[in-house]
Amino acid sequence: MIKKAVIPAAGFGTRFLPVTKSQPKEMLPVIDKPVIQYVVEEAVESGITDILMIIGKGKRSIEEHFDRNYELENELAIKNKEEQLQEVRKITGLANIHFVWQKELNGLGDAISYAKHHVGREPFAVLLGDTIIKSEQPLLKNLASIFERYGDSVVALEEVDPAIVSRYGVIGGDEIEKDLYAINQLIEKPKADEAPSNLVFAGRYIFAPEIFDCIDQTPPGINNEIQLTDAMRLLQKTNKLYGHRFSGKRFDIGNKLDFIKTNIVLGLEREDMNGDLKQFILNLAKEIS
Ligand code: UTP
Repeated sequence: MIKKAVIPAAGFGTRFLPVTKSQPKEMLPVIDKPVIQYVVEEAVESGITDILMIIGKGKRSIEEHFDRNYELENELAIKNKEEQLQEVRKITGLANIHFVWQKELNGLGDAISYAKHHVGREPFAVLLGDTIIKSEQPLLKNLASIFERYGDSVVALEEVDPAIVSRYGVIGGDEIEKDLYAINQLIEKPKADEAPSNLVFAGRYIFAPEIFDCIDQTPPGINNEIQLTDAMRLLQKTNKLYGHRFSGKRFDIGNKLDFIKTNIVLGLEREDMNGDLKQFILNLAKEIS
């Protein structure tokens, strides 16, 4: 069973400036919860009990969100706001959550390397702190069950429009069973005509601990950062690496348009607002069409 997860959340979020100047993108609200709480909930629903968050300068509000706030709890208790009290308490009880600072922002591979001592020599999950997944089953749970069956690293893949593959890490491989690929090529941000497929990394991974050795051996790549994709290419030379194409939707909150879409899509799922929101969207659609 995979019990430990790492959530990198130290990045600058430059695509979402100016709001990310003083506020982590991982703390932006989707309806009424910060993005990173959705990520933690997916991990917990997938069996994770121990989470290490990689944070950095300007990211203290993430720590505060997952820590207890006794004053607020007292206030809610005195005012008999039981529902809100439970909501607030639930956050701290989700999992054992720890924090470590990434000293310099040297990329995703570098961020994950900070988890080496915490994780030790056991398989572990990685969930990007700025990515919400909407799927029937928690996506990480699917990955965990593939890991149990095949015993090697497995990553989530999303099928995207071939015209936009150059924004992502892309794989090439053989489909060995429905929606499961044995990966044999990994390229970070390829040109559209050089991409081996339109299957891209979707921000959820389960790694064998050897990934740490591979990160250590990975030189800086694109943008002079230690790229996780480059470390995975090394891993794939000695270990098997699988890719699971999931059916669902990935929302990258670091991207302004995705952020707006996420609020609408998840808002439509919320019983307390879906009626009004749907009506608003229908009226708006009439107005703009
Ligand atoms: P992104 O590449 O989307 O993050 O990383 P970024 O660098 O903050 O974004 P832009 O391009 O400047 O807008 C995906 C996840 O990995 C974390 C980010 O915080 C995000 O949750 N990350 C990225 C780190 O923890 N450290 C890094 O050095 C880079």
